[in-house]
Amino acid sequence: MTYSEKIHQTTDFIKSQFDFTPEFGIILGTGLGALVNDIKIHHELAYEDIPGFPVSTVESHKGRLIFGELSGKKVVAMQGRFHYYEGYDMKAVTFPVRVLKLLGIRKLFVSNAAGGVNLNFKVADLMIIEDHIDLTKENPLTGANLDEFGGRFPDMSEPYERKMIDQGLEVAKTNNIPCHEGVYVGVSGPNLETRAEYRYIGRIGGDAVGMSTIPEVIVARHMDLPVFAISAITDLCDPDNLEKAEISKILEAAFKAEKGMTLIIKELIAKN
Ligand code: HPA
Repeated sequence: MTYSEKIHQTTDFIKSQFDFTPEFGIILGTGLGALVNDIKIHHELAYEDIPGFPVSTVESHKGRLIFGELSGKKVVAMQGRFHYYEGYDMKAVTFPVRVLKLLGIRKLFVSNAAGGVNLNFKVADLMIIEDHIDLTKENPLTGANLDEFGGRFPDMSEPYERKMIDQGLEVAKTNNIPCHEGVYVGVSGPNLETRAEYRYIGRIGGDAVGMSTIPEVIVARHMDLPVFAISAITDLCDPDNLEKAEISKILEAAFKAEKGMTLIIKELIAKN
């Protein structure tokens, strides 16, 4: 079976389970699962029960596809995403984004945890991604182009929809949520960066660095799907003052940022 046939097969399976056409897709990142509590759930499918879906291996992620209402709109949320560092290739990492598009979504919302390279940032601040630099080791569009989804050379002049960035900043301001806009640098992981790498990431224009999101956004843009993406700044990466990374602290900061992020996403879904 070709990759494209697999995408259709998985989509057809989901459509055969219930009648539900989502307008928005949401990818929930590390420690940002609380949004699920605000979704009025109609249906859910464990990844392992969806033929063709990769299975999530990271402990802090529960792998389920959730269908329901958020802010009165129909959404599908991925609780748990697939990371390249887990051993999936980029075609597997981005497979669900193709499926969400075929299920009917109009816009994609993505969240993640990221290290703050911009030294004006504080732990547990938010950063709405305005642009990105891809330093990951594989591109999800490599190989024969999937013509039915988009062209060979996708435009990247506005990877993150400007209108939604402005709306997000406005929601943050109104609600006193500490929130910046900035450039996300995507790496493959799983190791964190060296001091020299953080210095490099800052010098090339990065404000935050993380191990996800970019492949999903590239595939979304290939399909001309407008994207809104937001990072929880979980640790500060000052090359001249670098503390040892502790995953427990990173998760704690993501948890602290969760409330503001949830509110921004809910309001954006209401407005779009
Ligand atoms: N680097 C990469 N990914 C991350 C970081 C970081 O410093 N913090 C949280 N996710």
